[in-house]
Amino acid sequence: MSPDSFAFIAGLVKSRSGLVLTSDKGYMLETRLGPLLKRDGLASLDALALKLRDPRAGALAEAVTEALTTNESSFFRDGKPFDHLRKVLPVLIRARPAGATLRIWSAACSTGQEAYSIAMLLGEVPLEGRRVEIIGTDIADGVVARAREGYFTQFEVQRGLPARLLVKHFRQEEGRWRVSPELRNMVRFERGNLLGELRGFGRFDVIFCRNVLIYFDAPTKARVLNALAAQLQPDGVLYLGGAETVLGLTDRLVPVPGERGAYERPREAALAG
Ligand SMILES: C[S@@+](CC[C@H](N)C(=O)[O-])C[C@H]1O[C@@H](n2cnc3c(N)ncnc32)[C@H](O)[C@@H]1O
Repeated sequence: MSPDSFAFIAGLVKSRSGLVLTSDKGYMLETRLGPLLKRDGLASLDALALKLRDPRAGALAEAVTEALTTNESSFFRDGKPFDHLRKVLPVLIRARPAGATLRIWSAACSTGQEAYSIAMLLGEVPLEGRRVEIIGTDIADGVVARAREGYFTQFEVQRGLPARLLVKHFRQEEGRWRVSPELRNMVRFERGNLLGELRGFGRFDVIFCRNVLIYFDAPTKARVLNALAAQLQPDGVLYLGGAETVLGLTDRLVPVPGERGAYERPREAALAG
């Protein structure tokens, strides 16, 4: 592939999704875009780049972007954020009037393990008359569809999911495990781009945005963090992945003291609403 073609594809993917492809990622383009070349009868990545230059190639650009996302996920990933959520939920519940709806967002939800982990956890917390809405969003249509269907392989359910919760919330179907209808009904999955307009999703009490900012450059991380801060309730909590932080990127979020990976709005901002 010519350096020009690489730069064109990398620029397109970054502008659509924020994902940064450094020049050493040529092999990744070859492997991940191979199936698309085959599907569209294209001889090379140069031919693909040429086709993408056509402004009418929006659907192809979307498919290329989706193919270059990394969708790795697991149930109760890293443990800690879920332990913290278990502690913080009763506080949030008590701070809301009876009948209120707590809103929880798994932004960049991939195949849904994070959102379903939250739903399982909620099943064990007394909600004291409050309702809960869980939304999972991701830029990649394919993973959103998978999340919605709620099928997981034996390998996937063996990663992080306690046997007790597997038995309680999953059924075996055609050699795979499917999330129970009750749990599926607790979560709504939609396509959503973190670089897009986030105000339409409304305000959230809890936001998980984990293991996606690592793929962005600093200005994009800052932009997304500021947009997420604007959607977080004044007393809400944002969880980031273990290799992610707000430090040096925004002052609209600060670490929750003593809780790795958990962030909140600074007190003055919280008081202002
Ligand atoms: C590594 S997965 C993380 C999944 C889950 N949050 C976790 O921590 O297990 C990253 C996800 O971010 C999604 N993603 C990448 N860029 C995005 C964007 N601009 N907006 C929304 N989702 C994005 C990818 O499609 C992928 O499913």
